[in-house]
Amino acid sequence: MNILGIETSCDETAISLLSAEGETDFSYDVLGEALLSQIEIHKPYGGVYPNIAKREHARALVPILEDVLRQANMLSESGSTTDEETIAHIEKILEREPDLFLMLSNFLRSIDKPPVDVLAVTVGPGLEPALWVGINFARALHEAWKIPVVAVNHMEGHIMMALQARGLQKNENQLLPSVSCKLSTVNLPALALLVSGGHTELVLIPELMTYQLLGQTRDDASGEAFDKCARLLGLPYPGGPEIGRLAAYARSQGLERYTVLPRPMLNTGTYEFSFSGLKTAVRRAVEGKTLTDDQQAAMAREIEDAIVEVLVTKTKRAVEEHGIQTVIVGGGVSANSFLRAELIKALHPIVPLFPEPTFATDNARMIALAGYLRAIKAPPEGGYADPATLKANGNLRLA
Ligand code: KG4
Ligand code: ZN
Repeated sequence: MNILGIETSCDETAISLLSAEGETDFSYDVLGEALLSQIEIHKPYGGVYPNIAKREHARALVPILEDVLRQANMLSESGSTTDEETIAHIEKILEREPDLFLMLSNFLRSIDKPPVDVLAVTVGPGLEPALWVGINFARALHEAWKIPVVAVNHMEGHIMMALQARGLQKNENQLLPSVSCKLSTVNLPALALLVSGGHTELVLIPELMTYQLLGQTRDDASGEAFDKCARLLGLPYPGGPEIGRLAAYARSQGLERYTVLPRPMLNTGTYEFSFSGLKTAVRRAVEGKTLTDDQQAAMAREIEDAIVEVLVTKTKRAVEEHGIQTVIVGGGVSANSFLRAELIKALHPIVPLFPEPTFATDNARMIALAGYLRAIKAPPEGGYADPATLKANGNLRLA
């Protein structure tokens, strides 16, 4: 099955085309893949602006699709299979994205229908204006190519990206990777620690693709805490990688602590998190002061120490209380190397599963993967969506 994943939930526009087969043990080849990050555009604002994100997704989708289809050798331009009546329907679907309609209609008029079998698109959680662009794009492609659409939960995408590390075999001799994943070797119950810009949650996985929320953040997500604290230190968006870099420097130099930050809700005995107090404490510690470079690095280390200690402690407790056999870590913050090292130490002998660092942050391969595993399942757990009623759901839940 050739499955085209589309991701526009936040500030990355991404498309990935996989050729996948199998079920619990499956394999896939990457036929084409491209991602355009809007980070530089959002940097001056210190965070993601939903309407700017929406505009940039609309600009990026057609060029990215063209790039992906070219990589897959699927751009045959012998003539169009899309007639003008279909183009008129697509114009209605994209009435709120006139620029996207112009680009897409010109593109569709110039190419044959590619051998894509299924479209997988993120429907939530995320920024709704941004999600809608991807959804309407998928609906337009469905109209043009008459192929089914599967609705993907972005967080399940993050889980699948980490989970495929289990039994992973890669054929590195190819230009684009060919991968086999043996999900049958995943021992259950599993636990997912999901840590991103919008989420911090612990999710129990009694069976593959079945979820039960153990607890989540009451306020800021861990990625958001990294971003907001970084901003207070005068560091650019996104703050996570910046704090990680400075914290590693502070550790390597043995820099003295600048201040001690709280470890919010560390000992509450619940799986709830709260990170909004951290930024308040950081603000108090740095307000009206000019920090030296070393003080700034020491502060970054303390921020990272505080966030990681809370995440690791609660994850370890959940593992013990629920007899967890497999730990999966997903979302942008899972790229953090200190978090990785601390989890590996704390959870021994369980070896937690992480996504490859470049696939920890948002991408479309994770959407194509989760979409594939949903598409091959029978409804109601799987199957296809009705494109006409597809909706963005900014707060879509796993469970
Ligand atoms: O999953 P993601 O790409 O987007 C959302 O779905 O939110 O996560 C983005 C978040 C940002 O808050 C970013 O600062 C954080 O992930 N992040 C990191 C690192 N890389 C990205 N946080 C800590 N350390 C990192 N290396
Ligand atoms: Zn994400």
